[in-house]
Amino acid sequence: MRPVEHHYAQTLDDALSLLSKYGGQATPLAGGTDLLISLRKAGGEAELLHVVDLLGVDELSSITVADDQITLGACVTHARVEQDAVLRSLVPMLAQACSQIGSLQIRNRGTLGGNLCNASACADSVPPLIALGATVVLQSPRGQREIRLGEFITAPYQTVITPDELLTHIRFSRPAPGTGSAFVKLGRRNALSVSRMSVAVLLTLGEGGRVTDPRVAAGSVAPVPQRFGGVEEALAGRTWSDSLAEEAGTLLAEEMIEISGRRWSTPYKEPVVSALLRRALRRAVAQAQGVPETGGVSPKRAAAPKPGRRGGRDAPSSKAPEIAFVLNGREVEASVPANWTLLQLLREKLLLTGTKCGCEIGECGACTVILDGEAINSCLVLASQVHGRVVETVEGLAEKVNPNGEGLHPLQKAFLDQDAVACGFCTPGMLMSAKALLDRRPRPTRHEIKVALSGNLCRCTGYIPIVAAVEQAAKDLEEKGDARPED
Ligand code: FES
Ligand code: FES
Repeated sequence: MRPVEHHYAQTLDDALSLLSKYGGQATPLAGGTDLLISLRKAGGEAELLHVVDLLGVDELSSITVADDQITLGACVTHARVEQDAVLRSLVPMLAQACSQIGSLQIRNRGTLGGNLCNASACADSVPPLIALGATVVLQSPRGQREIRLGEFITAPYQTVITPDELLTHIRFSRPAPGTGSAFVKLGRRNALSVSRMSVAVLLTLGEGGRVTDPRVAAGSVAPVPQRFGGVEEALAGRTWSDSLAEEAGTLLAEEMIEISGRRWSTPYKEPVVSALLRRALRRAVAQAQGVPETGGVSPKRAAAPKPGRRGGRDAPSSKAPEIAFVLNGREVEASVPANWTLLQLLREKLLLTGTKCGCEIGECGACTVILDGEAINSCLVLASQVHGRVVETVEGLAEKVNPNGEGLHPLQKAFLDQDAVACGFCTPGMLMSAKALLDRRPRPTRHEIKVALSGNLCRCTGYIPIVAAVEQAAKDLEEKGDARPED
């Protein structure tokens, strides 16, 4: 892992002066879901990197909905967008896109600003924001500039941001009443899925069902996500019909080929991108007509705790930080190298080996623990980021029901009863994802259980007994009167 020095910014000025002081040797740290992977890739021989932790800067985590404009702080997580009732109703396509990024653990940490600055061609939040005409606010000690998102991302993984600049906010006009929008993506699987192609549509329906102000943006079909002007022109002012959707789909495929040329994948992509647009148009039109949306984002959860809160503690020193946090109900202090992850802290320093290490890139969920009430991948969080916070691991489960740590938590008992364990490698992560769910939703539906476990891979048991075990535990907790009240 690349050596790092961890700097805790408490204000925007702090963050800007740190970035300016260390220039090209510094990087902002928000959710860390991309950064931690790149630190690991760089290896221990790479030069020291100054990471400027933004999660203590309140204004970067705000969601502001005004009469004419919506402003999102760069550190707003995907999970917050997915769950925010106002955003779900005003810009469903953005909530839908955020609900399909990575796993629940990734969405609980990953931020909008991080997704935009990473600038992947398949970043799910980008097409909806481009369709919304979003701008990004970039701030540096030299001043502020606001540019269109479409001009911010210049090539795959490249943006116009300079080393001393910080993306602070994302802004877009509040959609007028009667606007419909939808995001549809194709991935290889239902969860933890990188978009092969994605389409976002925003429109309103005027008199006689005429399509007004249509916006069509797509990801992974061109070097950077972008709007498709030819399709928008063809839709504008025309009366909505299935044949219009067909025509628009064909045009989108033609525009894609014009931009990217014919490739080996074109025979596959051509019909698929057309189908995605048809589907997105139908959903956006249904929404504009007031037909309630089914599926899409997950049911609403309680508001997540504000990230970055450190319970009023002073930030630890950054080189070999002394980290103080609450672990399974007890105050713990530890000092580890600044580039250690929470997973390393738990397993190697505190010898809590119940939390497993699988992929170390956020894909298997074996390292899942609960941080301030949310399931997260401990391999993608720096140990120093949990200073002043509350962590629960699988070792704390039994202690929850018996202070001596004896006996089993109803979830553990249900996993045994249902034969939901074979080799057991995935089980601690599954248990913690399930616990985070039951703490928030004591009576989850089967679909909610599947979503909650979708970031946890099991290679041997199969998921049917695991889902049944969570259902049994929910019932047992309710019968014992131990279920928390529904949020
Ligand atoms: Fe952390 Fe696989 S997700 S080890
Ligand atoms: Fe073996 Fe899940 S029980 S990986």
